Amino acid sequence: MKPLLKKVLIGVGATLGVLALGFGAYVLILTRAFDASMAKVYSTPLPAIKRSTDPEVIARGEHLSHSIGGCAGHDCHGKDLAGGRVVDVGPVGSFAGPNITEGGLLAVYSDAELARLLKTGVKKDNRSIRFMPVQDFYWLPDSDIAAIVSYLRTVKPSNKPNGTTSIGTLGKVLDRRDEFPWDVARFVEGKPKDTAPPPAPTKAYGEFVVRLCTGCHGETLAGGPIPGAPPSLPVPLNITLHETGIKSYTYDDFVKVLKTGVRKNGQKLDPFMAVDLTQNLDEIELQALWAAISARPPKAFGGR
Ligand code: HEC
Repeated sequence: MKPLLKKVLIGVGATLGVLALGFGAYVLILTRAFDASMAKVYSTPLPAIKRSTDPEVIARGEHLSHSIGGCAGHDCHGKDLAGGRVVDVGPVGSFAGPNITEGGLLAVYSDAELARLLKTGVKKDNRSIRFMPVQDFYWLPDSDIAAIVSYLRTVKPSNKPNGTTSIGTLGKVLDRRDEFPWDVARFVEGKPKDTAPPPAPTKAYGEFVVRLCTGCHGETLAGGPIPGAPPSLPVPLNITLHETGIKSYTYDDFVKVLKTGVRKNGQKLDPFMAVDLTQNLDEIELQALWAAISARPPKAFGGR
């Protein structure tokens, strides 16, 4: 081998070695930071929220749990709230919403502990909950949190065992890069403490309801692959009024896809799209959502 070529090859080899070491160190630092943050003990006080037996409050809680609150989604705690499907996000990890009936985890939670969990992502043991997207609904007013707590207490107890949740190294790295929230209490802590206006068919209320969609469709609603997700997970579509999104949709088309899971072009959506929750949105929430989405700037597909 010519001496110059040899020198170049040694140089390239050394650079790759340094890059690999650097990458290894980066992954190690983020993984350690993640583990430390998950071990953090919060001193968040318990809110003064208690269950009610008022049928109207329980009905409101039932509505929220099966729509905006997301509890009953099949990829969350399931329709019977006894535990959802295992969702495999490849090297990011996998999660399964546990049994939250009185036959499961609910039995060990007081009303105030449950309310604190729903408002902050802090569990009974004062540590962060994994994955449950509190960052999307912590804005619900205390009266709605109390309604959800009240409803959950009335759900038929089940003794279904819990699935397992595990977090991959890539998941820990993506969490620290703020791209995939596992360490929920940290995400909620960093969010503005805004509370929604009272429900009305307005853009202002819709901007809160739309948070049910941003976890999958992205903050800009432009869709695109969920970071780190394997090809087996369907890609959230663009739901802005762009040519690559739902520009051709009328309000009625929009309601139809959220109620039935059938697109304007007749195609049936994959059940990963949360139609089991969006089908339960009421008229005010649907109009508010549409007002918010129509007011958002159209974005090309993939911008998330
Ligand atoms: C759990 C993830 C998830 C959540 C939450 C979610 N979506 Fe989706 N959505 C998807 C996926 C994935 C698709 C595409 C499925 C497919 O291609 O079959 C989709 C498709 C859609 C479509 C079809 C777009 C088209 O071009 O026809 C609309 C509309 C939509 N979602 C609206 C919403 C709204 C509004 C919300 C919030 C209220 C929401 N989605 C919440 C994952 C989600």
